[in-house]
Amino acid sequence: MKTILVTGGAGYIGSHTCVELLEAGFAVVVVDNLDNGCEEALNRVERISHRDLMFEHADVRDKDSLDRVFRDFPIDAVVHFAGLKSVAESVSNPDLYYDVNLGGTIALCEVMESHGVTDIVFSSSATVYGISSSEPIPEYAETQPAQPYGKTKLAAEQHLQTLCEADERWNAVCLRYFNPVGAHPSGLIGEDPKGIPNNLAPYLTQVAAGFRDKLMVFGDDYPTHDGTGVRDYIHVVDLARGHVQALEFLADQRGFMPLNLGTGRPYSVLEVHAAFERAVGEKLPYVIAPRRDGDIAIYFADTAKAEMELGWTAHYDMDDMARDAWNWQSKNPEGYKS
Ligand code: NAD
Ligand code: WQD
Repeated sequence: MKTILVTGGAGYIGSHTCVELLEAGFAVVVVDNLDNGCEEALNRVERISHRDLMFEHADVRDKDSLDRVFRDFPIDAVVHFAGLKSVAESVSNPDLYYDVNLGGTIALCEVMESHGVTDIVFSSSATVYGISSSEPIPEYAETQPAQPYGKTKLAAEQHLQTLCEADERWNAVCLRYFNPVGAHPSGLIGEDPKGIPNNLAPYLTQVAAGFRDKLMVFGDDYPTHDGTGVRDYIHVVDLARGHVQALEFLADQRGFMPLNLGTGRPYSVLEVHAAFERAVGEKLPYVIAPRRDGDIAIYFADTAKAEMELGWTAHYDMDDMARDAWNWQSKNPEGYKS
């Protein structure tokens, strides 16, 4: 049985990936500082999978703690989720974002190498493309992230690429996620945002739950079929399964590879809103508001490379995403505090 270190495993995407890893027969060790994750999520991962995992409460920048983890457990490979993800916070505090997202990745790689572990799957983001000239976006599109968050993700990717080019033992798959939404179909784990959600799907479930009055649709004058922004939303369970397939792919010598994880099927804000109305079975109030600063009209993935390299495609559609997001929200109105 292979042992996988999952950094940030107590967070949204990490917890769903732990379920898929345990169900695929891997042993799992989670390192998380619980900055935005929750230990209860890990208890629920164990309930869903009927398997135990190991948890170390530690920061990925703390090399002594990481070193102890590598001495205590026979780690074969790493899935690296731990990081900060707020675009707005990265603009107000770029140093913190470079420290955690790039510094954390460098510290982790140093400790990995000192223990002879050189296979890593990294949580990157479609935001590394910035304003892309092509839709759908292939991996070879130019990377020009427009904000510090995206720049830290690209810098971490470049660090991994440099390691792979310098030393053939290193293998890294950088998974560039598009817009992860939804929750595990059990309703036991899901997205648990602190404060007012920035993202569309958790905002909609909070409108449905009565915590927010109405959705503000940011702009209806984009050059899209209904004027609202268009994105590539992907079910978090499909995303999680992509990580398992990336690890299996890394088992052979692969070097450095960036891969998009999306469905390739774009949806507008109004189409997402309609799917959530169907899932909830009620009208969800909305108003058209001004465009949000920094938003772009259309963003969706060319998924051909992930399909070719990993044999991976997304299985869930927007109605599945809305159903599972609402199932999680309605069963856990206060998130993991419920
Ligand atoms: P999340 O905040 O739910 O999970 C991140 C986890 O990392 C949390 O449990 C947090 O406590 C932990 N963490 C943060 N800093 C840490 C540190 N220094 N040391 C140890 N643990 C630390 O976020 P998520 O949505 O699950 O995202 C996971 C990863 O995927 C992040 O790297 C994020 O940038 C990336 N990503 C997310 C999205 C998205 O829309 N959710 C899209 C693209 C990429
Ligand atoms: C989606 C669409 C909004 C909220 C962000 C990050 C990105 C990535 C994923 C990590 C847009 C519209 C939203 C609302 C709305 N994260 N919207 N009303 O902006 O595509 O991506 O999360 O890597 O880096 O930037 O996602 O869910 O915020 O917005 O109308 O209250 O919904 O304008 O068109 P986005 P989102």
